[in-house]
Amino acid sequence: MTEYATLTVNGKTIELPVTEGKEGEKGIDIRRLRQETGYITFDPGFANTGSCKSTITYMDGEKGILRYRGIPIEELAEHSSFVETSYLLINGELPTRQKLNRTSVQLNDHSLIHEDMQNFYQNFPRASHPMGILSAMINALRSFYPELMTTDEGYEQTALRLLSKVRTMATMAYKISRGHKVEYPRPDYTYCANFLHMMFNTPVKPYIVRKELVKALNVFWILHADHEQNCSTSVVRSVGSARTNIYASISAGVSALWGDLHGGANQAVVQMLTEIYEQGLSVEKVVARAKDKKDPFRLMGFGHRVYKTYDPRAKILKKYVHEVLDKLNIDDPLLDIALELEEIAINDEYFQKYNLYPNVDFYSGILLKAMQIPTNMFTVMFAIGRLPGWIAQWRENLIDPEQRLVRPRQIYTGYNHRPYIPIDERVKDSEQW
Ligand code: SDX
Repeated sequence: MTEYATLTVNGKTIELPVTEGKEGEKGIDIRRLRQETGYITFDPGFANTGSCKSTITYMDGEKGILRYRGIPIEELAEHSSFVETSYLLINGELPTRQKLNRTSVQLNDHSLIHEDMQNFYQNFPRASHPMGILSAMINALRSFYPELMTTDEGYEQTALRLLSKVRTMATMAYKISRGHKVEYPRPDYTYCANFLHMMFNTPVKPYIVRKELVKALNVFWILHADHEQNCSTSVVRSVGSARTNIYASISAGVSALWGDLHGGANQAVVQMLTEIYEQGLSVEKVVARAKDKKDPFRLMGFGHRVYKTYDPRAKILKKYVHEVLDKLNIDDPLLDIALELEEIAINDEYFQKYNLYPNVDFYSGILLKAMQIPTNMFTVMFAIGRLPGWIAQWRENLIDPEQRLVRPRQIYTGYNHRPYIPIDERVKDSEQW
């Protein structure tokens, strides 16, 4: 039986149907609101607005639950691989062994990029941020590989192409920025092992791929693979709603993820921890600055729009950081600082009042540091992980019959009507130009 919300506004009462999700979350369907009342809703940042119905990822921010296609991330982190989890997100089901093997072969077949694309890298200033390069290169893929989105088979091929080439493009940005020879993927390496190989192998010093790091990288990317309608995914859906091709849509998502408040936070966290360590700052004083409303400083890696409890991904990453550093015999002072910051913050009444807990970015940078990933590549690592989620969400938006071109309304607060004033009649400038 449909539930209704009753709204009385401007002397008129209307009933708006309530739509209910599979986990009991409810949304008031306001699609008829403006035509029946002349009113719109107002919700900056869409914190209270559902943009779509989705079958891909479920989050419960109060309970700290995250599931991909119904499977808890804790189980995927323990038992799955990034390739298998990507298949799950994109196709909706875990692959059979045969399908997983076929996917691995196809990822290998698609792992090279057109040799002409290397010329683009040569013309970026060496100090360019790799997120800007990655966004540009993903957009450029459209010129070399016209997307084949008219059929399901075409969608699968394009998804595999993107998933495989993103590693090659990311590692190429790193190698060329350092003036190093570009490393090609190896057919005998798995997805994550190949990424580490392309990042760190050199002609004079072969890189030994350690299984601990391959496992940690799989877990890192599994935990970043999707997160329902976050900022960058909403951008991918929004751009895709205009029937823009998938490469340009995902390139826009990379740009959105780059921001410090979103995916750029992992880089900002390590920069914050490094500053505390190198300058010998008091952790208590850093927490005090984060609470000071006159100070724009925020404790990076803390807080979340949805999670009002410990981010379940941060819990798993924290565990892996300890395991990897122990196995590699690394004693990273930044971890000690992070643990001290967490201990003080989560027991502080300000952080408790606002439900600010460590999020996915708080420990991820320390794990990436242990893998020798350079800090300016941290958000690129986030983008690679999020790619299967973006692909799945873009496609879901494309085939959803309820979806339309994204075009929100606004509340206008500018000038009321006023006439054009000829230039000689305008208020004279105070100083002579
Ligand atoms: C990601 O959405 C997703 O799913 C994103 C993500 C994903 O997987 O895609 O999970 C990845 O982006 C994680 C978040 C990474 N960002 C950071 O760690 C940056 C630091 N955190 C914040 O800036 C903030 O917590 C946000 C942006 C993450 C969430 O902000 P909201 O929901 O818009 O909340 P808000 O900015 O309105 O803050 C509410 C209050 C404010 O105080 P008042 O102005 O109301 O008095 O909490 C305060 C804020 O000042 N606050 C913080 C804080 N975060 C919020 N104060 C100090 N330090 C912080 N980190």
